[in-house]
Amino acid sequence: MEILETAAALQARAETWRREGRRIGFVPTMGALHEGHLQLVHAAAQQNDVVIVSVFVNPTQFNNTEDFKMYPRVLGSDTELLRSSGCTALFAPTPEQMYPQPAVLKFDFGPLERVMEGAHRPGHFNGVATVVSKLFHLSRPHRAYFGQKDWQQVAIVRQMVQDLSFDLELVAAPTVRETDGLAMSSRNRRLSAEARALAPRLYEALQLAKQRLVAGPAVAQTEATAFLHQFPEIELEYLEVADARTLQPTIEPGHDVVICLAAWLGGVRLIDNVVVPAS
Ligand code: PAJ
Repeated sequence: MEILETAAALQARAETWRREGRRIGFVPTMGALHEGHLQLVHAAAQQNDVVIVSVFVNPTQFNNTEDFKMYPRVLGSDTELLRSSGCTALFAPTPEQMYPQPAVLKFDFGPLERVMEGAHRPGHFNGVATVVSKLFHLSRPHRAYFGQKDWQQVAIVRQMVQDLSFDLELVAAPTVRETDGLAMSSRNRRLSAEARALAPRLYEALQLAKQRLVAGPAVAQTEATAFLHQFPEIELEYLEVADARTLQPTIEPGHDVVICLAAWLGGVRLIDNVVVPAS
């Protein structure tokens, strides 16, 4: 596995692979890798000739400086995990490599970002779109892999790919969970033992909402919210039932439904979602 640290090195490598006719799979991450990330790398290795994984804690997508400071950074162990995962090249740039000058261009995704993560983390998706578009230009992938755990992020990136004519296929992979249902996340390693014990309640609430959807989206939302309010240590930021494509509360006939939540547990912010196929 090659380790690339500069934008120019990545660009040159991707250019060579393109000229040789190799199919490039790309997996962007912020590191502190877990099985959810590794499943994306495995899928990319199966479907492409070479795989580029980026590890970069992107400062522009953090609306909270404390969260940015506390975000786990473990490049040594990430590198070891990637060596045995089918990754061909690891791109691990410094902030100066990615942002030689601060980006001025601003993205606005309209209604897609006025809800959920976009509404609660101002500027978050502008930062995501900025870094992902830079990474796409540098790595020139045929396919790019994202996790459904960040459902709204996938919707935003899909819109960006369409609006800016990125010539690549977006692949969205299912959420990988711990055996007790908790969605894997780099932030899970920051949970105290007490918070970790409570964290599976989030997925339970989503399952409850899914079951109660037969009674209507409002009932599903109210009952799942009431379930979580039993636990004073869980500070729910939102729990929303939405159209899985538009992310708006009005569910279009024939569209899947997505139930998304964000909650704080002992100073750590977690998100999760479940999708309910159209009946
Ligand atoms: P990060 O949180 O590191 O996630 C990298 C990719 O792994 C994302 O596509 C995310 O959805 C996926 N992922 C995380 N947990 C997962 C799980 N439990 N199951 C399946 N997939 C999972 O998302 C980001 O980084 C950043 O916003 C990034 C796209 C890299 C831009 O900076």
